Amino acid sequence: MSFKRNIMITGGAGFIGSHVVRLFVNKYPHYHIICLDKLTYAGNLANLKDIEQAPNYTFVKADICDYERMLTLIQEHNIDGIIHLAAESHVDRSIKDPFTFARTNVMGTLSLLQAAKVHWEAQPNRYEGKLFYHISTDEVYGALELTHPEGIEPPFSTTASSGEHHAAYGTDFFYETTKYNPHSPYSASKASSDHFVRAFHDTYGLPTIVTNCSNNYGPYQFPEKLIPLFINNIRNRKPLPVYGKGENVRDWLYVEDHARAIDTIFHTGKIADTYNIGGFNEWKNIDLIKVLIKTVDRLLGNPEGHSIELITYVTDRAGHDLRYAIDSSKLKNELGWEPSLQFEEGIEKTVRWYLDNQSWLDNITSGDYQAYYDVMYNNR
Ligand code: NAD
Ligand code: DAU
Repeated sequence: MSFKRNIMITGGAGFIGSHVVRLFVNKYPHYHIICLDKLTYAGNLANLKDIEQAPNYTFVKADICDYERMLTLIQEHNIDGIIHLAAESHVDRSIKDPFTFARTNVMGTLSLLQAAKVHWEAQPNRYEGKLFYHISTDEVYGALELTHPEGIEPPFSTTASSGEHHAAYGTDFFYETTKYNPHSPYSASKASSDHFVRAFHDTYGLPTIVTNCSNNYGPYQFPEKLIPLFINNIRNRKPLPVYGKGENVRDWLYVEDHARAIDTIFHTGKIADTYNIGGFNEWKNIDLIKVLIKTVDRLLGNPEGHSIELITYVTDRAGHDLRYAIDSSKLKNELGWEPSLQFEEGIEKTVRWYLDNQSWLDNITSGDYQAYYDVMYNNR
C-alpha cells in the first residue's frame, strides 16, 4: 500500500501520544503512522487497542536512545515527519532518578535528531516536506508568582467578559519569549532537549517546531499523576496525598485539545517557530481536588462530602513550582486553535471514563498491562 506520508510518533503508547496516534490514524487514512515506543512502565498498548488493526498503523517497540535503530527505522519507513513525545514525564520520579531523565529526554532526543538529519540529508530533496516536531512542556519556563485574589470563590474563570484572558492567580503568563528557568531534573532535561532541537535547526537547517504545553488531563493517563491517582484513590477509599498546603496552581488542558493543537501545528505551523499550548484554566490544587471529590462521590452515589476526609496533607515536593499559566494567544491568532472543552465538562468526562474503565486502572495498578505486548506482537 502506498501512503502519502510516513509519520513516526514517538511515545505513542503513553498518555498524550496515544491520543495523537488515534487522531492521526483515524483522520488521515492516507498517512502511514508508525508508533514507536519502548513500553516503559508508562507505555501501555491497551491505550491503542481500538486502532491496532488499522491498515495505516504500525507499532514498533524500540528505545529512542538506540541511535542505530532509529536511523534504520527512519530509513526503512522513509519517515518524512516525526512527532516526538517519548520521554520520562513524571517530576517526582525525576527527583529520585535524574539520570534516566537525562538519558531518555536529552540523549534520546539527540539520537532521533541525528537519525532524522542523516536520512533527510541523503534524500534528493533533502529537508523539503520534512518536519521534526518536538513536544515540550511549560515547566521549562520555571514558576510564576502566585497571588491570591480577594473575595472571589473558586472556580476562577480566566476569561474576562470582554473575551480577553487575564491571569487568575497572578499578574503574568508564560509567553513564547519567556526565559527558560527550569527547576526540576525533569524540566531541566526537557529544556535541554528543546535547546538541542533548536540547535539542529540553526546549525544544520533541520526543519523543526517546538511546542510547550500546560498540564494535560483526560483518559489513559498513568495513575501516578494527580488527577487519575486521586480518582483511583477516592474510588478505593485510600488517602489523597496533597503536597504542602495544596496551594500550587496548574493550568489544565483536556488531552484531546492538545492532540488537536498538535495536528494543527504539524500541518500549518511555521518552521523554526515555537507555540505555547494551554487552556487559560488555572486551578489551585486543593480546589481542583475538591471538584474531583465532589464529582467522583456524585457519580458513585456517595453522599456529598463523603470523601473529603481522605484529604491528607503530606510533605511538599522538593523544589515544587508554585504556579504555571500559559498564554496561548499566539496559537489562536496565527493558526486558529482554541481549547474546545470547558473545564467542568472535561472533568466530568474524565471522571466518568476512569470509573467506566476500572479494568484499565486495575490492570495498571496490578502491572498486568505489561504482558500485552507479548500477547499482541510476539506470540502471533
Ligand atoms: P507518558 O509518561 O504518559 O508517556 C511517555 C511515553 O514515552 C511512554 O509510552 C513511554 O513508554 C515512552 N518512552 C519513555 N522512554 C522511552 C524511550 N527511551 N524510547 C521510546 N519510548 C519511550 O507521558 P505523557 O504525559 O504522555 O507526555 C508525553 C510528552 O508530552 C512528554 O514529552 C512530556 O514531556 C510532554 N508533556 C506532557 C504534559 C502532561 O501534562 N502530561 C504536558 C506538556 C508536555
Ligand atoms: O505542566 C506540564 C507538566 O504537567 C508536564 O510536563 C508533566 O509531564 C506532567 O507530569 C505535569 O507535571 P506536574 O508535576 O504539574 O503534574 P502532577 O500531576 O505530578 O502534579 C500536579 C500538581 O499536583 C503538582 O502541583 C503536584 C501536586 N500533587 C501531585 C501528586 C502526584 C499532589 O499534591 N499530590 C500528588 O500525589
